[in-house]
Amino acid sequence: MNFNELRTPCFILDADTLRHLYRSFRDALQNHFASARVAYSVKTNANPTLLQILLEEGAAAEVVSDTEYDLASALGFQEIVFNGPVKGKEHFLKALEDGQTVNIDSKRELDWLGELPAGAQASVGLRVNVPLPDDDTFSRFGFGMEEFKEAVERIKALPNVRLAGLHLHRTSRTRSLEVYATIAAKAAAVLHAYKLEPDYIDIGGGYFGEMPGKPSFEEYAATLAKGLKDYPRARIIVEPGNALCAGVFSFLSSVLDVKEISGHAVVVCDGSRNDIDPFFRKTDYFKSFPTVEEGRPHAPIQTVVGGTCLENDRLFTLEGEPALRPGDRIAFANTGAYTMALSPLFIRYFPRVYVLESGLYRLASEQWSAQDYLNAYGI
Ligand SMILES: Cc1ncc(COP(=O)(O)O)c(C=O)c1O
Repeated sequence: MNFNELRTPCFILDADTLRHLYRSFRDALQNHFASARVAYSVKTNANPTLLQILLEEGAAAEVVSDTEYDLASALGFQEIVFNGPVKGKEHFLKALEDGQTVNIDSKRELDWLGELPAGAQASVGLRVNVPLPDDDTFSRFGFGMEEFKEAVERIKALPNVRLAGLHLHRTSRTRSLEVYATIAAKAAAVLHAYKLEPDYIDIGGGYFGEMPGKPSFEEYAATLAKGLKDYPRARIIVEPGNALCAGVFSFLSSVLDVKEISGHAVVVCDGSRNDIDPFFRKTDYFKSFPTVEEGRPHAPIQTVVGGTCLENDRLFTLEGEPALRPGDRIAFANTGAYTMALSPLFIRYFPRVYVLESGLYRLASEQWSAQDYLNAYGI
């Protein structure tokens, strides 16, 4: 199938770029650490084709719910990092029994350690709350230093449980190298203060994925290596979501209609803001117009709107640009992170997904139909 045959609206997964990004991050870590793992953050985009490609490449899966744990297991991931504050007890105990990396986020999970089967040995990690220098608020995750000591003592009091690692994910606005220097320094300070010899240090996610002018995987790895130089034997885990999936998906939409309202040309598309900006926070997109030919007459002002009935489903405005027409296509690059994972069921259900591999497109999944939805209800 070629580009012109794609049916819109649709997402397109660029498989070759995904493989390239995964390998680049893995190799950068291997340049600096004796042992390192890339555990893809499933929540960021749980597209099964993307997960299968990462599994083939040898990635681990990072999950934050029982549902995601089951998804990763069903796809065949042998190595799972289980995080988050909403684990269920059954899955928590099973993950420990299966020897997965389990990072404890709350006191109730500490209580569950007492319910491990008799004779079972378990290793756990503790999520550390990480303040950042430019925080205007505090992170709600992990153990603050007020409660960390008690958590360590409770684990140490259990003869069959070993504190094997720390987890220090921190979402930041900047994704800068300073953030990772701060995280590494926090890890080193906690490990030193509690005289811990960790099997692993899990740095979490939050990296850029090969964006011009932004830190590279190599720079992130070098920054972490510098801060963690006293722990050369620890396995380093990273949990990229955005860095691996944002740039590998594009979204393709078609112009359905052009209307004239109050002196504006209103260009109606079959895609919507809900597909590519479900938080309704973006002000512009990495957009291109593959069907607009040279010399097309320009329009003074065009408001490009999505195909839902929300007044604020307005994608962008063009001033003095070629006039769009029904049938034109608009391509939005960089639409893989926190997009399709968040908007499956609004007005028009989840769109088609194609995969682009070695220059050819293939359909990975059809647009969800009304019947697909009803099937979940047995109707
Ligand atoms: C625990 C954890 N790991 C990894 C990630 C992935 O973050 P990003 O997509 O910014 O790489 C998140 C995102 O919130 C997270 O909460």
